Amino acid sequence: MKYLSSLSKKNLAKQTCLLRVDFNIENTDLHGYEHGLTRLPLRMERVLPTINFLIDRGARVVILSHRGRPKTQISADSQRKSALSQRRSAFTLKPFAKILSKLLKRPVQFIDFNLRKSDFLKLRNKIENSPPGSIFLLENLRFLPGEEKNDKKFAQRLALLGNFYVNDAFSVSHRAHASVVAITQFLPSYVGLALENELKKLNQVMKSPKKPLIIIIGGVKISDKIGVIKNFLKKANCILTGGGVANTFFAAQKLPVGQSLYEETMIPLARQLLKSKKIILPIDSMVGKGAILDIGPKTIKKYNNIIKSAATIIWNGPMGYIEDKKFRKGTSETAKAIIKSRAFTVIGGGETTAAFQAATRNYADQNTDKRRYNIRVNLRRNQRKSALFVSTGGGAMLEYLAGKKLPGIEALKLSA
Ligand code: 3PG
Ligand code: MG
Repeated sequence: MKYLSSLSKKNLAKQTCLLRVDFNIENTDLHGYEHGLTRLPLRMERVLPTINFLIDRGARVVILSHRGRPKTQISADSQRKSALSQRRSAFTLKPFAKILSKLLKRPVQFIDFNLRKSDFLKLRNKIENSPPGSIFLLENLRFLPGEEKNDKKFAQRLALLGNFYVNDAFSVSHRAHASVVAITQFLPSYVGLALENELKKLNQVMKSPKKPLIIIIGGVKISDKIGVIKNFLKKANCILTGGGVANTFFAAQKLPVGQSLYEETMIPLARQLLKSKKIILPIDSMVGKGAILDIGPKTIKKYNNIIKSAATIIWNGPMGYIEDKKFRKGTSETAKAIIKSRAFTVIGGGETTAAFQAATRNYADQNTDKRRYNIRVNLRRNQRKSALFVSTGGGAMLEYLAGKKLPGIEALKLSA
């Protein structure tokens, strides 16, 4: 693979980079940031160094991203015209131009484009004739039909807009889409700075994890996580479970789960996995409306002790129903135990990351002595003294850690 980090001013000056990022960020997170309530979304924070790297070396940058699933998330029965404008306003990338412009302290031009040949060539000219360091942000690629089909013609046309391509979007690299895969056939393609770091950190836990290695798996569906569980069953010392994942294991042992979420179809597989003796289940639970909604205090204590002993930790999926404050404790206590631990830790998944960040904020705010102040400072940079890495990937991280090949990464390997 070729790495952007290996390029210098000599290679980059006056060139135009098509930079694939992942601005698939919820409106609530975006508004939270704009109103000063939450930090800059991680997926934006991570690509700023890449953009600066490029413009500092005299390149122009054309930012490509998708946002949401505009085709499936809009109800099919709404009238075509209103559906279209609804889709545009819910999934537009327009607000990102203003935010980026502030962060980068230079103009970022938002471009709502279509693929009509004459318009497209005009756009190409405009980009080509802009001064070095110019930044453009194209509208949501999923508004166009070719993106999700990995359409070659669409990718080829996109490729006309630049001289080289950089993938800095680990979190969408599990999708064989035009701006992730097909485009690499038409331009020299590079691994971006954030993607390089992401792969390095994930490879560290994949290839040579220090033992004890502890996996923490929660969230609703075990079917999403099964690949990771299987891939680490031998390597890991144990797998701590919570959420719907633990419930499925309970059901597999014929224990009563009442109204709790679990996956019936996964029961045979869950039974198999239990034979390994490495799956650790909650020993008490918090219950609401007849359902298990969080791990209980004894489990928190037990899990914390195991976390304390770990040298490497991988965490994906909350321990309970964190949408309700009453059932957040299992997840926030797990986060706190991880902050205090010295283990090299990789955390991923949107909900887990959000819960982790909220817990660390609270933790840092409540603790003001010097050592903890250092933790706070380090956490701002998403780093603890002993490395802690928050992955931008949800699905992508699960697939990568399951040992699957990600189409976007494979494409970079193959690109000429
Ligand atoms: C994600 O958040 O999982 C990525 O941005 C990919 O989006 P998708 O799951 O809609 O393909
Ligand atoms: Mg996803």
